[in-house]
Order: sequence, then structure tokens, then C-alpha cells
Amino acid sequence: MERTLVLIKPDGVQRGLVGEIIKRFENTGLKIVGMKMVYADEKRASKHYTDDESWLKSVGEKTLKSAEKRGIKMDRTALEQGKWIRELLMSYLTMSPLVALVLEGNEAVGKVRLITGPTNPQEAPPGTIRGDFSVDSYQLGDQLERPIQNLIHASENPKEAEREIKVWFNKEELHFFKRVDEDLIYRKGKKE
Ligand code: CDP
Ligand code: MG
Repeated sequence: MERTLVLIKPDGVQRGLVGEIIKRFENTGLKIVGMKMVYADEKRASKHYTDDESWLKSVGEKTLKSAEKRGIKMDRTALEQGKWIRELLMSYLTMSPLVALVLEGNEAVGKVRLITGPTNPQEAPPGTIRGDFSVDSYQLGDQLERPIQNLIHASENPKEAEREIKVWFNKEELHFFKRVDEDLIYRKGKKE
């Protein structure tokens, strides 16, 4: 059983998409074990988007690759680009309240990433949250000097999920209970 962190970022809350987004995760059978609305401050935002060098590089790399695809050669290194995006992310995450969720279930991390779709909404297929509810793109973000407003944060792997859950929730805020469909979803095939 896995747990994963989802943030419905401030643009999702401002656009009134909280219910629609939660519904999509909940419908799969994933269980909400933690949920709250938070007006994040810079400190919380910088704990969430750490200044870990490998993460900064990978975020920067994504942008450089996407620019390259559009025939644009950027003169920043991946790390410089990552640092720049992190600065912008601080103001995005703190601009208005967000909704934080912890979802639990079979391979929850990967499932939530699939439902969320790729980082760039213009590359996100229909059926995904980013594909269905956003027209944003790297290009538009760059042009307006802001990060891509892609509605959701979702942990990328179980290790990241474990760390991120701790940034937003303490132990008492995570709950233990059974969904009524759990016996069906996790039932054994063979009769005892
Ligand atoms: O959120 P996701 O895991 O898909 O992407 P990330 O690479 O971890 O980047 C975190 C967030 O930074 C993204 O969700 C975007 O909001 C923002 N970002 C951006 O604005 N421009 C980029 N080139 C890369 C990321
Ligand atoms: Mg990420």
C-alpha cells in the first residue's frame, strides 16, 4: 500500500476545481487519509520545493529540452534554470490558499501521476487533469515570467511522497479508517 501527496495548487482552488479534481482521484478507489486547506508561506513552500541540486537540475532540464524542441536555445544551464523556476514557484504556491491531500492505495504514486498528466498542460492528453483543465504551456509561462500553472502537485516517487507528506501533515492529521469498497478491491480470489 502506498501513500502520495497531492496539492491542488492555488490556481485550482481559485478556479473552483477542488471538487472536480478530488472526485477524479477518489473515483479510482484511492482513499483520502489526509486533507486540508492551507495558505502556505514562503518557508513551507521552500520546504516543499527544496533547493536540492539534483531536483533543480531535473526541473531545469525539462525546460531546456522543451525549448530545444521549439527551436529555442537557452543560454542558462539546467541548474540555473531550475533555480529560477524555484524562485517563481515560491510566489505561485503562496499566492492564495491551496488544498493538500494524502491519498492511499495500491501503487498510489504512479496512479495519481497518470491521472494528473505531464507537467506541461499542452502535452497532457485529454482525460488527465492537466490536459482537461489547463491551456498553459512552457512557452506561455516563459513569456509571462511565471511558472506553468498546472493545477496539481503530485509526488513523483514513494520516497519523495514520504518526505513531502511530512512537510504538510503531522501524524495526527493522517487518519485510519476503511472505505466500504476496500474488501472488494483488496479481496483474495481464493476462498479460505
Ligand atoms: O509538477 P511536476 O512533478 O510535473 O513537475 P516538476 O518538474 O517537479 O516541476 C515542479 C513545478 O514547477 C511544475 O509543476 C510547474 O508548475 C513548474 N515548472 C515550470 O513552471 N516550468 C518548468 N520548466 C518546469 C517546472
Ligand atoms: Mg515534481
